[in-house]
Amino acid sequence: MLADHTTLVQFLIEERRRHPGASGDLNALILDVALACKAIANRVACGALAGVLGSAGHTNVQGETQQKLDLLANDYFLHATEWSGHVAGMVSEELDEPYLLPAEFPRGKYLLVFDPLDGSSNIDVNVSVGSIFSILRAPNPGADPAPEDFLQPGTEQVCGGYAIYGPSTILVLTVGTGVHAFTLDPTLGEFFLTRENIQIPATTGEFAINASNQRFWEPAVQRYVQECLAGKSGPRGRDFNMRWVASLVAETHRILTRGGVFLYPQDSRDPAKPGKLRLLYETNPMAFLIEQAGGAATTGRRRMLEVEPEKVHQRVPFIFGVREEVELIESYHNEIHENLDPWPLYGTRGLFRAPAS
Ligand code: AHG
Ligand code: MN
Ligand code: MN
Repeated sequence: MLADHTTLVQFLIEERRRHPGASGDLNALILDVALACKAIANRVACGALAGVLGSAGHTNVQGETQQKLDLLANDYFLHATEWSGHVAGMVSEELDEPYLLPAEFPRGKYLLVFDPLDGSSNIDVNVSVGSIFSILRAPNPGADPAPEDFLQPGTEQVCGGYAIYGPSTILVLTVGTGVHAFTLDPTLGEFFLTRENIQIPATTGEFAINASNQRFWEPAVQRYVQECLAGKSGPRGRDFNMRWVASLVAETHRILTRGGVFLYPQDSRDPAKPGKLRLLYETNPMAFLIEQAGGAATTGRRRMLEVEPEKVHQRVPFIFGVREEVELIESYHNEIHENLDPWPLYGTRGLFRAPAS
C-alpha cells in the first residue's frame, strides 16, 4: 500500500517543493481541513448509531433548517483549523457572520470559507453528502479580517476542494495545478492519491437539473432542456440522460468522473434569490476545480470565477461541466428570445398537452 500510493501529505510536500519560497502554511491548513473531513466522514458513516441524524431544530441565515450534522460538521471545521495560526478568519454557510478566532490563537495569512455539509437533505436517506471549501489570501495577514476581505472573486482562490462522503470518502482538490483525488483508507486514517490530473471528457450526453422548477426557468434554460429531452429526433440529434442527486458535491464528482452538465439556473421563484447555490463556498470552489479539469463554469451570463462578490452568503445561478455544453447554454442566454414560447413543452405541438384552465 505505502509503496504503491502517494499520501496526501507527500503530495502536498512535493507540490510545495516547486515553490521554494512557500512557508508550508497552506499545506498545513489543507491537512487540517482534511482532518475535519475525516472526522465528518466517520460520523456520517456511523449514522443513526452516532445519534447524528435529524434536524437540530434551528434555522440558519439562509432560512434553511439546520441538521444536527450541519452543526457538527461546522464545529469540526472550526476546531480543526482555528488554533494553527494559518487562518485569519472563516466564513461558513452555517454562521450568520464571519467567524472571529478565539483571542488566544494567532491570526494567519489565509481565509477559509466552507460549506461544512453539502446536500444535507440527503443525510437521513443515506445518500452521498460532502463538504466544500475554498482558501483565499487574507488582505491583512496576522489580523482579524473585515467582512469585505472575504469578498474576493474566485480567480483569487489559492485552493478549492471538496470531500465526498459516499461508498468511499474522497478528497478532491486543486491548488491551481490540476485536479487530484485522494481516497480515504479508513483503517489507516490516511488519504491516498487515487486520480491525478483529472480531465473532464470533451463531450457528454448527460445533464442534471431539478426539473420541478421548470416553470420558473428563463427561456435559455427552457430551450436547452427541451432540446436535450427531444433526443435523437430533436436539434441535438442524440439522446440525453438525466441525473439529479440534490447534492452539489455528488453532482460535481460525477461530472469530474464521466462528464455531464449541471444547472441550478436563475429562476423567478424569489426575486431576492437569483440562484440557489452560494458563491463563496459552493460555486467558486467547484468552478475552480471544473476549470482546472478542462470544463467551464458560468452564471449563464459570465464566467463564475470573475463574479465580484457583494455579500458573504450571496447566491448565484450556476451552470458547469463539459465546456461545449456550457458554452452552448451561455450562447442561449446571450441570444434574444423574443419569439420563444416560454412553455414550449406544453404547446399544441409540445411533448405534453397544456392543462385546461
Ligand atoms: P446545502 O445542503 O449545503 O444547503 O446545499 C444543498 C444544495 C446543493 O447541494 C444541491 O445542488 C441543491 O441544494 C439541491 O437543491 P434542490 O433541493 O432544489 O434539489
Ligand atoms: Mn451546500
Ligand atoms: Mn451545507
